[in-house]
Formats: sequence, C-alpha cells, structure tokens
Amino acid sequence: MIPPVAKLNLEINNILNPSWEKPFSTGFYIKNFDTFDEWITIFKPCFIDKLHSILPITRIMIFNKPANWSEESAHIDPNVLFALNIIHTLNHSLIKKAYQNTESYMEWFSIKEGKEKPINYSDSNTPYIKYDPKEIDLIHKECLDSSAAIVRTDIPHRIKIGYGHRTCYSFRFSNNFKDWSEVVNFYKNIGWIFN
Ligand SMILES: [Fe+2]
Repeated sequence: MIPPVAKLNLEINNILNPSWEKPFSTGFYIKNFDTFDEWITIFKPCFIDKLHSILPITRIMIFNKPANWSEESAHIDPNVLFALNIIHTLNHSLIKKAYQNTESYMEWFSIKEGKEKPINYSDSNTPYIKYDPKEIDLIHKECLDSSAAIVRTDIPHRIKIGYGHRTCYSFRFSNNFKDWSEVVNFYKNIGWIFN
C-alpha cells in the first residue's frame, strides 16, 4: 500500500501575510475560506500564486487545536481525495526535550466492515463520515509537526495533538485525480516530494 501521506519539499516559514492578524492564539479555532480575497489577506500573494498555478485552489481551511487535544473517532471527508496541509507547531528543542514523545500525530485507518455510513455536517457545514474506534484499524501514523505534506482524506483519519498547540493550513484543490496514487505521482513529477 502507498503510505497515506507524503512530505513536501515546500518552504513553509514566511508564507503568512505580515499584515494578517491571526484570529486565534493557542485555543480551538476552525474556519473555511472560500474566496481569493480572503486567501490573499492570510497568505503572501506569491505563495498563493505558487500553489494556485500548480492546481487551482478551491478552499483553504484553518484548524488550530490546543495542546493535548484529541478525538476518539476518525472521519472521512466525502468526495475529497487529499489535502495539502501546512503545519505550524512549536519547534523549540528545549520544549521538545521537556515533553518527550508528545509530538502531534495524524493517524489513518482501514475500515473493518464496508457498510454504508451516513454523512454528517460540522458546525462550519463541512461534510464528514464518522467512524468509531471499534469500526477501524490503525494502518499508518505520522508526525507532521512543522512540515508541509499531502495527506489522504478519503480513508478514516484523525489527529492527536501533543505538547503545544498546532495550526494546520489545509489547502483543497480542483482536480481530476482518480485515486491517491495519481495524487502522489503528480507531486513526484513536479519534484515536490522528497524521495
Ligand atoms: Fe479530514
């Protein structure tokens, strides 16, 4: 099986527009941004241009989760094959030493039984299909702290937050990829995947 995540060779520091005032600090915050006017107030225009020229951006979601946050259930994002996630986390070696083995993780799961499940809607009106721990088996786990990565969103996944709050800038694109392997090959071909 192709791993459900691939880290990208993408510079992630200095991507934010310096005049953007973050509407969150260390607490819980989730919001969707659907227009170009919103995107360029958050990010530097050159960064938006760079992503947009590779694949057209359709939505940007910001998830800020506090330290030690986690959820029991996993979810699938219906009709969304992948996301390009840029993760900003505390990256101080002394803090890391003091809180060993408590980095944040993204986990992916296989489904035990393939029975149909209903689509739910989050507070921000985002569709998702929820899976309880007893319905799924862990297949992959990866720390994505302070990195950019493409991640599979069409199989159950969840986040566990470690020693510090974690901000995820999640980009969604218009695309015609048939499956995850096509996504990975596309980013390999443009030289964005490390190996
Ligand atoms: Fe998701």
